[in-house]
Amino acid sequence: MEHNRVPMVAGNWKMNGDQDLVNQFSKELKTQALSCAVVICPPSVYLPLFSDHDFSLGAQNVSHLQNGAHTGELSVSMLKEVGADYVIVGHSERRESQQESSKLVAQKAKNAVEGGLTPIVCVGEPLNIREQETVEPYIAEQLKALTELLSVDAMKQCVIAYEPIWAIGTGKTATPQQAQEVHAFIRRTLNAHAEELGEGIRLLYGGSVKADNAKQLFSQPDVDGGLIGGASLKVEDFIAICRAAN
Ligand code: PGA
Repeated sequence: MEHNRVPMVAGNWKMNGDQDLVNQFSKELKTQALSCAVVICPPSVYLPLFSDHDFSLGAQNVSHLQNGAHTGELSVSMLKEVGADYVIVGHSERRESQQESSKLVAQKAKNAVEGGLTPIVCVGEPLNIREQETVEPYIAEQLKALTELLSVDAMKQCVIAYEPIWAIGTGKTATPQQAQEVHAFIRRTLNAHAEELGEGIRLLYGGSVKADNAKQLFSQPDVDGGLIGGASLKVEDFIAICRAAN
């Protein structure tokens, strides 16, 4: 099947970084002529500080609500107003620490699409699920919440990131084969939901992607790039990963 999914590398700074890192990324990435799509997701307070940059910006979370009395929350329109085009939803750290359900994650993704932000929807299994060999039903449940709430057209606006929880920040990467198997499963599942739906959707891999393993992961047929945590905090490492996706 022919497809033209331009590879994407997205950096998730998590609760790291400062004005200095904002400046470094704005300056250094400009000179690189990268052919993949690049998205930097800093803490949201830094979004408006990227004044002159040639990559896209994303937030790491968004409220599922529109506006109103929700202390501490940020809406889709606010994030858009300060320069975001993307938003990560359903990162496993939030699913765990904030008890975010797949239903809530789907609501966030739906609002994002409706408000003009591209959601990067994270899915992925914990170690015990991998050990029990029930990865596919686990991921299928996470996807089901999404496909039940979003229209097919809205689904087409999403990016999906497969992030096995046991690989996040642990230095343990999924093997390229493990990543490919799950990515192929995600694509098949989306294709079964609506004809060809999966073919146009970018599937990113995340979990201890580094400059030295990125090429192998990204060369898998169903891996369209990566969502990078730790290695997105050093501009030279991040650039090397982007080059691996070119
Ligand atoms: P990591 O994080 O690259 O540090 O493993 C990935 C992520 O959590 O998105």
